[in-house]
Amino acid sequence: MSRIVISGASGDLGRRVTKLLLKNTAHEDLTLVTRTPGKLSDRAAQGIRVLQGEYQDRESLDAAYLGAETLFLISGLNLGRRIAEHRNAIAAAQRAGIRHIVYTSVSGVQPNNPAMSAKDHYQTELDLRASGLKFTFLRNALYSEIVSSIQIAPAAASGRLEMATGSGSLAPAAKADVARAAAAVLQDPQEHEGAVYEITGPQLLNYEDIARIGAEIYDSPIAYTPVTPEERQAFFDSIGMPRTYDPNMPLNPDGHLWASDELVTADMAVAQGYQAVLSQHVKQITGQEPETLRSVMERVKSTRYDLIEETV
Ligand SMILES: NC(=O)c1ccc[n+]([C@@H]2O[C@H](COP(=O)([O-])OP(=O)(O)OC[C@H]3O[C@@H](n4cnc5c(N)ncnc54)[C@H](OP(=O)(O)O)[C@@H]3O)[C@@H](O)[C@H]2O)c1
Repeated sequence: MSRIVISGASGDLGRRVTKLLLKNTAHEDLTLVTRTPGKLSDRAAQGIRVLQGEYQDRESLDAAYLGAETLFLISGLNLGRRIAEHRNAIAAAQRAGIRHIVYTSVSGVQPNNPAMSAKDHYQTELDLRASGLKFTFLRNALYSEIVSSIQIAPAAASGRLEMATGSGSLAPAAKADVARAAAAVLQDPQEHEGAVYEITGPQLLNYEDIARIGAEIYDSPIAYTPVTPEERQAFFDSIGMPRTYDPNMPLNPDGHLWASDELVTADMAVAQGYQAVLSQHVKQITGQEPETLRSVMERVKSTRYDLIEETV
């Protein structure tokens, strides 16, 4: 029997939150659930319970969640199809006697948000509200590390940043702040029952601003040019990026699995203003000011996204 189950614990956020929770949580109060337990052999060697759980496999989730009080449901990656996966996780949590689900959603969740990822999160939020379980939503803004390593690093090399983001703004959040907020909520879930938190960085920025910061950090000019969604799609097609997410597709050179339908619709959501969300929630939850994009960019400059070291 454990107090907290982290589902999706082998990913970057799961690892960071595990590290933070272990500062105040007994090993026996934590269960780590992953599709691939081999990735958490270090934690298993420390005596922490590591169980296999795949969102498509209900029986694995039943066994993995059994007896816990709080589930940290880290959203999956299977865009367009993960609504059903998250439903499996919610149903397994109900059968397992879980009381409270803390869920990683995304900034700007609205029914008409064109971003594919927001559509999935919108439905899972509705499903969680209908489940009868206690819930907390952590609507995470775009990670600053993605802006830095995946959007700006190549733009600094080419001098060009061409996105379908128009003049829209967003408030990118450092992964360390996302992790700190999640860990604080998981430590004391009753304090956060029913809360919908917008986990953002400290500044709303458009891509003119972001290109300017990037140019200063890299000491190299970056010209931001807004393009149409069709032009953005044509660029991704030209580099051979698959349009639809497939868990078996090859890794991108930046170390991540990307499908262009996700990226183009995410740009459109920024252009249409859905990501222009700025909140004080990180400070309210953690007591710490969130890190600026400039600071993250300085810290992770030139580091491939999947090789960025945890700072918490
Ligand atoms: N706010 C943002 O900018 C942003 C950006 C990217 C993603 N996200 C979302 O935030 C989540 C956490 O971010 P992250 O950086 O930790 O991502 P990550 O490093 O890619 O980790 C994803 C985690 O989800 C698990 N997972 C994926 N599909 C699963 C399935 N079908 N069943 C069970 N587990 C599954 C993975 O398990 P394995 O290790 O076994 O594969 C891994 O533990 C992501 O999963 C994604 O939904 C947010």
